[in-house]
Amino acid sequence: MKIAIIGTGYVGLTTGVCLADLGHQVSCIDNDLEKVEKLKRGIPPIFEPGIEELIKKNLESGKLTISSEITPVVKESEVIFICVNTPPKADGQSDLKYVEQVAREIAESLNSDYKVIVDKSTVPVKTAEKVKETILRYSQDETKFDVVSNPEFLREGMAIKDTLEPDRIVIGVDSEKAKEKMLEVYKPLIEKTNTPIKITSVRSAELIKHGANTFLAAKISFANLIAHTCEETGANALEVLEAIGLDKRIGNQFLNPGIGFGGSCFPKDIAAYKKTLEILGINGKFIEAIEEINQEAWQRFIHKIEKELWVLDGKIIGVLGLSFKPNTDDIRNAPALKIIGKLKADGVKIKAYDPQAMENFKKVMLDIEYCQNPYEAANSAEALLICTEWDEFRNIDLKRIKESMVTPIVFDGRNIFEPTKMEELGFKYFGVGR
Ligand code: UDX
Ligand code: UDX
Repeated sequence: MKIAIIGTGYVGLTTGVCLADLGHQVSCIDNDLEKVEKLKRGIPPIFEPGIEELIKKNLESGKLTISSEITPVVKESEVIFICVNTPPKADGQSDLKYVEQVAREIAESLNSDYKVIVDKSTVPVKTAEKVKETILRYSQDETKFDVVSNPEFLREGMAIKDTLEPDRIVIGVDSEKAKEKMLEVYKPLIEKTNTPIKITSVRSAELIKHGANTFLAAKISFANLIAHTCEETGANALEVLEAIGLDKRIGNQFLNPGIGFGGSCFPKDIAAYKKTLEILGINGKFIEAIEEINQEAWQRFIHKIEKELWVLDGKIIGVLGLSFKPNTDDIRNAPALKIIGKLKADGVKIKAYDPQAMENFKKVMLDIEYCQNPYEAANSAEALLICTEWDEFRNIDLKRIKESMVTPIVFDGRNIFEPTKMEELGFKYFGVGR
């Protein structure tokens, strides 16, 4: 099948290379010319494990092409995926200006062949109807098309695996013809993996995405609530949460307490869902509570540091991990941004290290010292913070770290180390909820 992908960010690029790898003829389009030039040479504009190999392989086989021109690609494609960003406005609402702009460009490029236009970007319920209206407004009368919602559930850092081995595929369609086309898109994957397919109405599919992300964010805030309770009572959050998660109705995933969730999706999607509830006149306190606990998670971390180090002004603190989670260079809503921002305002001198995210961090924060490795970041520091659980940090030489620090105090925002082992090594150790 001939497929177009508009927007080659974390979601669009992953979707495009995976569909090409499954045998489709895929054209990826982006209006960022620098990105397009890089991609044409096989260079991924983002860090995502496994993506570079897939881009190169499919560019070489001719299954994947890259371009900045929507019109010719839309004309020859049967299915067109909209994967542009849907950033939050100041009031939490999704800003759909890029979706509208792309819908308009698609409309102006359509010919008389039937097309399926797919919303993959995360959007509020009923957006597909607006996309349809936009296309009808700006296209020729004889245009034949359907708008479908096919939300993505991929996690950055595991995006290829999540796309090629998903828990489920959700296809929201209001027409039989569009349903058949979408099943053809995913046929190679369904045959290979036996993935459950959920065919729903378009509105349901849109709500499934906001619902799933809200539920996952709620699990994390619940874990942080338990962790905060444990810190006040002396119970151990990891013991408590492990036992809670053993109940099959609850499950043990997404119950890791820490310094809060970040990324481009959870904060934005739950804010957008809260706005939808407000517009519908439905009580949104559930979501407010998730957001408040998420704020408290990083603020409590700061309080622990303040309580232990007392005066922060002039002190050196090392920070390991800047990305919002491991295996990505993405720093959107990373807890490290807020934590470092607050410490800097208190006069702390920050020495930071991250295996992949330092270039992105430099674009928003220049006045901290960027280090070549974890040891340099810890050197001469009065405390070391773990903000992201990269595997590289789990395996560091802790003796070497301890010797190079002025005072061996570790604030582990992701619980990657064992408290007893850290104490044996001579560290003063603070985890989350233990
Ligand atoms: C984004 C949303 O944040 C997410 O909610 C949604 O599910 C999918 O899209 P992501 O892929 O991480 O996720 O966004 P981003 O990395 O910002 O990529 C968007 C791409 O679209 C960029 O490469 C941008 O250049 C491109 N774009 C944007 C266009 O090609 N045309 C436009 O008009 C706007
Ligand atoms: C998320 C969803 O998981 C994915 O299905 C969706 O489509 C896009 O948004 P992503 O944001 O890439 O994916 O990463 P995810 O692994 O969900 O982590 C989000 C944040 O939650 C990270 O900051 C992570 O550190 C945090 N987290 C996750 C916790 O604090 N505790 C956990 O137990 C799990």
